[in-house]
Amino acid sequence: MSEKLTITRPDDWHVHLRDGDMLKAVAPFTARQFGRALIMPNLDPPVRTVEQAMAYRGAILETVPDGTPFDPKMSLFLTDDTSEDEVRAAARCEHVLGFKWYPAGATTNSATGVTRASHIMGTLECMAENGVVLQIHGEVTDSHVDIFDREALFIEQVLVPIHREIPELRLVLEHITTTEGVDFVRDSNRNIAATITPQHLLYSRNEIFKGGIRPHLYCLPVLKRESHRLSVLQAAVSGNPSFFLGTDSAPHPRNHKESACGCAGIFSACTAIEFYAEIFEGMEHLDRLEDFSSHFGADFYGVDRSSQKAVLDKKPQEIPPSIECGHISLTPLMAGESLSWTFAGTR
Ligand code: DOR
Ligand code: ZN
Repeated sequence: MSEKLTITRPDDWHVHLRDGDMLKAVAPFTARQFGRALIMPNLDPPVRTVEQAMAYRGAILETVPDGTPFDPKMSLFLTDDTSEDEVRAAARCEHVLGFKWYPAGATTNSATGVTRASHIMGTLECMAENGVVLQIHGEVTDSHVDIFDREALFIEQVLVPIHREIPELRLVLEHITTTEGVDFVRDSNRNIAATITPQHLLYSRNEIFKGGIRPHLYCLPVLKRESHRLSVLQAAVSGNPSFFLGTDSAPHPRNHKESACGCAGIFSACTAIEFYAEIFEGMEHLDRLEDFSSHFGADFYGVDRSSQKAVLDKKPQEIPPSIECGHISLTPLMAGESLSWTFAGTR
């Protein structure tokens, strides 16, 4: 009999499910593995209010196959104009778990994001008072700043001052990619956490240019040099509860990636938990996978850990070179490669 790993059913604390046909195509992959997921609001137009988020949540639930328990949690798109009433409404809604701060222009559909930290200080204070969590895309957007320095500069110039001014604000530095990100989270108080993606654990920036340009490894924040990858890897397997799973699975149709100006985003939802199992096993810390994937995020967000289990088999699988959903073609992370673990279901 093959080796099995049974863990508390995991949660994905950062995922893009999109809308329309793309939502129908990708949501079942996330719902199959994860009991809950925090759904990013960067639709066009963005999901800014509790009312819009509840409508979006309804649309997501319609795409989930019958009999698959899945609880989408929502993050609202923060703008310079987000009102304190909206913050209080979010605090009262059990399905909304925070606001996402995209610096304006930082990434996909973020043009109407926050233009300056000073414009939202009142809103952040209101969030702190009401116990609402802030999810942050932590990159400065000034065009003169080198793309590889954007996270470190955001931490130094924006995040450290905010944390000093409002230490009770609970925040998640999303998809961390740098030693500076790891150090900031590890050395801060328990109000600060970070999510970690599979791609930032698996690859350094060299991989984007291996033998030619590889658009399916382009995401934001962009992959960094090897020393940063190793810092993030050590943080993930460290057992520190401030670091937990968030795939940042961000699907774009293949022709939008394989283009003269390709979109940022990596689609990893179809074999998400297997990527992490492989990585933790490679680090000889498979015993710490469950805390990272299924406990620490729930604890940070103050929701119950899942009462369900997920089972993985030590059974090799091939990741398909392409996933076809109607007219949409998606290229998953590690397309055409093999994994040694296979998700076997929940119970
Ligand atoms: O690579 C990314 N893709 N990074 C983000 O921050 C957004 C995401 C998307 O929505 O496509
Ligand atoms: Zn994202």
